[in-house]
Amino acid sequence: MKKVLSFLLTTYVSVPVILYLFPWILSHAIFSHLLRFPYFVDLRRPQDVLNHTCNFYLSIEEGVSVGVWHTLPVSQWDAAAGRNVDWYREALGDGSPVIIYLHGNVGTRAISHRVALVKILSAAGYHVLSVDYRGFGDSTGDPSEAGLTSDALYLYHWAKTQSRGSLVCLWGHSLGSGVATNAAVKIQEQGPAVDAVILEAPYTRIGEVVANHPLAKIYMILPGFESLLWNILERINISFANDKNLKTLSSPLLILHAEDDNVVPFHMGQKLYQIALGAQRESNADARVHMVAYEADLGLSHSHIYLGPNVSDVVQNFLQKLR
Ligand SMILES: *[C@@H]1O[C@H](CO)[C@@H](O)[C@H](O)[C@H]1NC(C)=O
Ligand SMILES: *[C@@H]1O[C@H](CO)[C@@H](O)[C@H](O)[C@H]1NC(C)=O
Ligand SMILES: *[C@@H]1O[C@H](CO)[C@@H](O)[C@H](O)[C@H]1NC(C)=O
Repeated sequence: MKKVLSFLLTTYVSVPVILYLFPWILSHAIFSHLLRFPYFVDLRRPQDVLNHTCNFYLSIEEGVSVGVWHTLPVSQWDAAAGRNVDWYREALGDGSPVIIYLHGNVGTRAISHRVALVKILSAAGYHVLSVDYRGFGDSTGDPSEAGLTSDALYLYHWAKTQSRGSLVCLWGHSLGSGVATNAAVKIQEQGPAVDAVILEAPYTRIGEVVANHPLAKIYMILPGFESLLWNILERINISFANDKNLKTLSSPLLILHAEDDNVVPFHMGQKLYQIALGAQRESNADARVHMVAYEADLGLSHSHIYLGPNVSDVVQNFLQKLR
């Protein structure tokens, strides 16, 4: 019994020590990019899970090429049969809005809840570009906060050019919400603000999600553990500070969050809504900040907001006013 207890105690105490010595472990846990679910989908063959879609790669920088799926809006479905990548790229200029889908951690652009949302957005009349950031899926390179942000930034400018100025919206789910606001803030520092931003199940800062994880909670009673966590995040250059970003974001913003979210608590979405509303009201009269809350009864939790009532109406109502 004594041996078991001392073993448990040693294991318990060694985790923070190991994290301190090998901070990159936390980085791997946050991105979880090496879990390339679903393993049976060939990312070069989107047609196996998604119609009206082509696969292509963008060279972001030396050594970094990212995989992207382009799914067409309903108006182009019939015309698309048998067309190649060049035709798809040309079709981006048809005037339909473009949504860049920035997914959460773990897995690839082929995960079923991601594909299901893309189908809804495509049927609602949008081009959708879903990207696997560097290090995810079949994309090369290694993930980092700065790197993921660069990928989104590059894709936004690429889409803006290819679509000849159509409305381009950044949609960030979970981890991707931080990528979306990081990129949006950079874009507006360099020129016109992003046309629209949609955040699905967003957090205040990634550290607060980590601290809220059941595993981390076991350690919160250990004095100094929380400050150790923040210290490690600083050393690995990860902050994903949506709360800070929304203080300056001037783009129209829509937040979608389920009250029963078991990964990113609902109150984080509410807090972001208050921050963005306050900031936009201060800087101009007509703040364009909206939030849709999904009742716990619906059981949508963290990854199933696409099943919510009228998701496509909600998105259309938001984007229509901006065109
Ligand atoms: C693609 O469309 C066809 C015809 O509507 C349908 O039968 C098929 O199931 C669709 N494939 C996927 C992967 O959704
Ligand atoms: C964090 O960023 C700094 C400054 O940009 C850099 O020198 C350092 O190598 C980065 N650390 C990691 C672990 O990426
Ligand atoms: C959502 O859908 C229901 C039933 O389809 C409809 O009655 C309601 O008006 C819709 N709400 C919005 C905001 O579009």
